[in-house]
Amino acid sequence: MHPHHRSPAPAGTAPSAPQPYTVIFDAVAASSPGGDAPGVAPPAAPSTHALLRPLRDGDGAALHALVAASPPLDLNSVYAYLLLAHHHGATCVVADGGDALLGAITAYQPPQQPDTLFVWQVAVAAGVRGEGLAARMLDYLRLQVMAPRALRWLDTTITPGNTASHRLFTSFGLRHDVGCSMTTLFGAAQFGEHGHDDERLYHLGPWA
Ligand SMILES: CC(C)(COP(=O)(O)OP(=O)(O)OC[C@H]1O[C@@H](n2cnc3c(N)ncnc32)[C@H](O)[C@@H]1OP(=O)(O)O)[C@@H](O)C(=O)NCCC(=O)NCCS
Repeated sequence: MHPHHRSPAPAGTAPSAPQPYTVIFDAVAASSPGGDAPGVAPPAAPSTHALLRPLRDGDGAALHALVAASPPLDLNSVYAYLLLAHHHGATCVVADGGDALLGAITAYQPPQQPDTLFVWQVAVAAGVRGEGLAARMLDYLRLQVMAPRALRWLDTTITPGNTASHRLFTSFGLRHDVGCSMTTLFGAAQFGEHGHDDERLYHLGPWA
């Protein structure tokens, strides 16, 4: 994989106006019939640009579509995503690909834990998975949301079989040199007859 390019925000950025990051993915060039012919130049490798920015009111339907395409995430109503954007957009991040959202992390500060960012859902569009986008979005939240608010903990829940998510968050903790404890937040029985695995709480921190 090619390294990713990122333009970090300048130092001293105000919490209320986070500077966007730009992540550029060097996509693998798709093979085309003409590209293999002698003397015919292959098409230029496409690249996908994603701007990391807070979630906005206008993103509700696009976020709903991204989550719908990202099993095993629970799909909530468009209205739930609109509310999330409206009330907690500043503590969420999306990867804006221009025509569509390529990724998103929804997160908020639990009222009873003012020193914590709770990460709810993480989704990356299938075509750009494995390229480091989810990790970049978590780093964005650390730098642009947690640090300005002096948040020392990041919590999330993961179902036992979600290896990708487990790896994403444990790698994030290692990269930031913080601890990670795991307990069960919601047992399967608490979901009633809807059928759901345990949701294990990953408690990462403390950040200085
Ligand atoms: C989970 C998900 C968000 C990861 O996004 P991504 O952009 O592909 O992840 P990244 O490329 O940033 O990878 C981050 C880490 O996770 C690991 N990882 C990513 N996908 C993985 C997979 N399928 N299996 C194992 N590890 C995986 C990467 O190797 C990397 O670890 P490293 O830093 O130790 O090398 C994405 O696969 C997705 O949207 N899945 C469907 C929805 C979902 O399960 N969401 C998470 C529930 S909260």
